[in-house]
Amino acid sequence: MDYLTALGSLFEAEGRHDPYPAYDVIRAQAPVFRAPDERWYVTTHALTNRFLRDTTMRLADSSDYDQFWPDWRQNRGVASVVLSMLQTNPPDHTRVRRAAAATFTPRRIAAMRDVIAAQAEELIKEMPAEADFMTAFAYPLPVGVICALLGVPEADRPWFRQRAHDLTIVLEPISTADEMQLADAAGRELENYFIGLIAERRKNPQEDLTTALVEAGALTGEELLANLVLLLVAGFETTANLLGTGLHLLLSLPAQADRLRADPSLAPDYVEEILRYDSPVQLTTRFATEPFEVDGIAVPAGAALTMLLGSANRDPARYDDPHRFDPDRPNIQPVSFGGGAHYCLGAPLARMEAQVALPLLLTRLPALALNGDAVRRDRLVLRGYSEVPITTGTVS
Ligand code: HEM
Repeated sequence: MDYLTALGSLFEAEGRHDPYPAYDVIRAQAPVFRAPDERWYVTTHALTNRFLRDTTMRLADSSDYDQFWPDWRQNRGVASVVLSMLQTNPPDHTRVRRAAAATFTPRRIAAMRDVIAAQAEELIKEMPAEADFMTAFAYPLPVGVICALLGVPEADRPWFRQRAHDLTIVLEPISTADEMQLADAAGRELENYFIGLIAERRKNPQEDLTTALVEAGALTGEELLANLVLLLVAGFETTANLLGTGLHLLLSLPAQADRLRADPSLAPDYVEEILRYDSPVQLTTRFATEPFEVDGIAVPAGAALTMLLGSANRDPARYDDPHRFDPDRPNIQPVSFGGGAHYCLGAPLARMEAQVALPLLLTRLPALALNGDAVRRDRLVLRGYSEVPITTGTVS
């Protein structure tokens, strides 16, 4: 397979389901190259790490959207992503990120450990003998955790999975007009939801993140709305994929599952290796503001650089035998949470959820097993499963 065919396969259902053979072909071609679609692709761990931290790179923000798509605000799915910190540059990004980080404190996150464990225990107890792990656990746990942080009432929680699924199509490089319409509808519903919650918290402040962000006063009305939608959606969509991918991997490798079951203190290394082996976020893009040269390749100002995080995480120059799942690797450090100024704000929370939940599932359900084929989500950027059938055995 030549590298352009390999690249093209990432945009088709078949190739998307297992992008790793294609990543190998395109990484062997070049660490960075321009494809016929004019986009640049970055394939190695070293360059991905470097570009994510490079302050001459920027994200496409609202001013860029104003130029190439004057009507973008009419699609409220697109608007809620573009107006959030995820697609904002300094100085706005610095201000918004600082306000969010001041509310999303290590103390507040650490205090969630007991909530996570209690919710996980509850979900395990309620799990039927045969279940879809995504529906019975991988979604409800992170939805419950982020909703507890934001102060979203229990009764509203089941509603979010489909809305997040519809909204996040805007992160994909390719989407249909119908999908964009669904994203618009989901954006409107989520915005209306948070308009209500913000008004409520202004009247009745609570000990939650929504109140803290409202009271911080550093964000404009539209920034507040977009970032609450982002925190909710980013807070569970990727974490659900981490849990689903992680459990599927462990149950496919019974010796690894047995080892983690016998020694839950190994969970941090297991979670890092799961993140490396099959990253829940597969790519992100930056724009070069200045021309530069790398490995003899001239990259012009304005180049759109797509960083293939999943490829970087399987780079043989960084990881021995990269296609092997090996939690004993030294110094794993995947790029799955990005890097630099936009490094994932929720990384400590996502890690903690997986580190608590995966060993707990294995110890409480010693006979837990896969029950037929799992179904891949039909997405390139947010990678995971839509269904992981399991049998649970009895709770111990
Ligand atoms: C940003 C991945 C969980 C909130 C990011 C970025 C990545 C990422 C790759 C950077 C995107 C870029 O640079 O373009 C993940 C993964 C997760 C996860 C793999 C789970 C396994 C979470 C959770 C939350 C969260 C639990 C919130 C509770 C955010 C926010 C940003 C972000 C707010 C934007 C940061 C900024 O732009 O400054 N995430 N994330 N994420 N993530 Fe996460």
